[in-house]
Parts: sequence; C-alpha cells; structure tokens
Amino acid sequence: MKYRKLGRTNWDVSEIGYGMWGMGGWTGSDDNESVASLQRAVDLGCNFFDTAWGYGAGKSESLLGDLVRNNKDKKIYTATKIPPKNFKWPGKKEYTLDDCYPPDHIEKYVEKSLENFKLDSIDLMQFHTWEDTWLEDDRWIVKMMDLKSQGYFHSIGISLNRWEPWNGIKTVKSGIVDTVQVIYNIFDQNPEDELFPACRENKVGIIARVPFDEGSLTGTLTMDSKWPDGDWRNTYFVPENLKSSVEHADALKQVLPEGMTMPEMALRFILGEPAVSTLIPGMRKTSHVEMNLAASDAGPLNKRLMKELKKHRWDRQPTRWSQ
Ligand SMILES: NC(=O)c1ccc[n+]([C@@H]2O[C@H](COP(=O)([O-])OP(=O)(O)OC[C@H]3O[C@@H](n4cnc5c(N)ncnc54)[C@H](OP(=O)(O)O)[C@@H]3O)[C@@H](O)[C@H]2O)c1
Repeated sequence: MKYRKLGRTNWDVSEIGYGMWGMGGWTGSDDNESVASLQRAVDLGCNFFDTAWGYGAGKSESLLGDLVRNNKDKKIYTATKIPPKNFKWPGKKEYTLDDCYPPDHIEKYVEKSLENFKLDSIDLMQFHTWEDTWLEDDRWIVKMMDLKSQGYFHSIGISLNRWEPWNGIKTVKSGIVDTVQVIYNIFDQNPEDELFPACRENKVGIIARVPFDEGSLTGTLTMDSKWPDGDWRNTYFVPENLKSSVEHADALKQVLPEGMTMPEMALRFILGEPAVSTLIPGMRKTSHVEMNLAASDAGPLNKRLMKELKKHRWDRQPTRWSQ
C-alpha cells in the first residue's frame, strides 16, 4: 500500500481508503463479513475509513470504533459526517443553514457520533451535504472551531452533492476546511476542471468517493439488475439510469486490457490523478478488499489507457432520482 498526504492535515493516508456506507444498511450486509473485511483492510495497510451517522443511524460508526479499539497499535484515521437536520439527501440550493446545520444540531450530532464510536475524539468531521452559499453565514464556522478547540475532532471537511463539484469551491478557497469529498471516477471527471486546482492551491485534501459509480463501473450490472425491496439502489438505478449506465460500462469493456478487471481499471484510473489523496470504494467482502487494495501496488494506468479513458467522461446533471 502506498500513502499520500491528505492536504494540510499532513496525515499520511492510504491511497485506497475504505467506504463504509454499504455495511450500515444496504441489503445483503452481513456484520461478521463486514467486520472481517474491515480487519483485512487494516492488515493490508489501509488506514483511512469513511463513515457517517447516516449509515445506519450510527451502526457503521460503531463498527469503525470497534476496529480502532481492536487495532490500538496502528494509526487508523476516522472520518465521519454530520447529517443534515432535515435528513434530506441530496442538499438543495433552497435549503438554508437552519434547515440543515444550525449550531445546536451540529453539536448534538458530533456528540452522537462520539458516543457511537466510543472514542474520545474523531480525526475528520465532515458535513454530509453542502451548499456553498452557507459560507456567508458564519455560525457553522464558529461552532465547528469551538468544538475542534475542545478536542472533539481534529479536522473539518465537506462532502459535495452528487454531480455538483463546483458547489464547494468557494468554501475550499475560504481556507476554513481541510478536506473535500467528491465523486470522481472514469465517468465523473469534472472535478478536474475547477475543484481540484482550487484544492491544490489551498492545500485542501481530496477524498474521491463512489469510484465504481455505485456499482456500474465494476461491470457487473445488467439491464435486468434489481435489488431487494428497500435497497436504495432501486431508486438510483431507475430504468433510464440503469440503461445508460450499463451502456456506458459496456463501452469501457471494449478498451479493457486483457488480464485486467473492470474494478481494477476503475481504481487505477483514479490513482492516476495526483491531486487525489485517497479513494474510498464501498466494500463488504474480504475478496473485494483484497482485489481493491492491490490496485495501489499496481499503480496508475499507463498513459495510453489514461488518454483513452479520458474520452469516457460522462457529464451528468442532478435529476429527480440522482440523490
Ligand atoms: N454524500 C456522501 O458523502 C457520500 C455518498 C455516497 C458515498 N459516500 C462514501 O463513498 C463510499 C463509496 O461509495 P459507495 O459505497 O456508495 O459506491 P462505490 O464504491 O462506487 O460502489 C460500491 C459497490 O461496489 C461493490 N464492489 C466493491 N469492490 C468490488 C469489486 N472488486 N468487484 C465487484 N464489486 C465491488 C460493492 O460491493 P460490496 O459492498 O458487496 O463489497 C458495492 O456494491 C461510501 O461507502 C461512503 O463512504 C459518501
């Protein structure tokens, strides 16, 4: 495993981190399997884990707390997120700071997260949704600085809404936040345009999330893919999205080198972007952990394939189903 600096935090984080949403409540989660997968990742050198109160109302956070306690000899970076007070994902521009992150709500959920982790302090506290207009209202800044000075957490981050990489740039430039979490993968290349340069200039660490586009970039979805009732993927991969996602993934299979898998190509593409500090695939199986973490040793793809994959950029706009 190779490590990169996470912006101005100066932490050395594993290039491949760990996304912990699925194990918090997607159908098909098995806690024993999730715990074994987390431990396997630590054993293979992964040291950055991303969770949120919203992943099972604290369930995923408590699994991460256990992992930290079971590996006291290792530094494991814990990153979590404060949910918006209206519990609506994604954020929308009409939502105010009072709708989503009034100071009392921030404090309440930072405390709840610490209780779930059963730890004294968290490394990175992020906002689970973001609107750049909130920068004009400094109540969240005052509250976060106060909680940080009391040692509740060490660094502050924002997590940007799907397909809105521009909706965080002002905050990145403000110098208030240490990290930004954004969707970046073979399809969603648009953070390269403005967000990444702004992060580089301001030494803001970049956490690339959803490296597999929620699964389509693993090449395993078909036009008939369905999930059990209650699984959120039914509401994301609605027929129009499933069809176009499968078509876009099929086009990639034409350029996949012999001997390489789709997940490997997806991860090594992201590793080719030096601005990214860590990328966080969602994983609940040790086989996925082993396969994905090996991408770091394999390193970025060669220049010819990178150039080819740049052509598969797919710019999308938020829609009623995009969440
Ligand atoms: N608003 C936000 O802040 C926000 C929103 C979304 C996600 N996130 C963060 O980003 C992380 C990653 O996103 P995500 O989990 O939604 O999506 P993702 O990483 O794009 O895809 C996860 C899916 O890929 C599967 N997978 C993983 N490795 C695989 C492999 N080698 N071969 C085949 N399939 C594989 C997983 O299966 P298994 O689960 O069965 O292993 C899971 O179904 C989340 O876990 C979360 O930490 C944050």
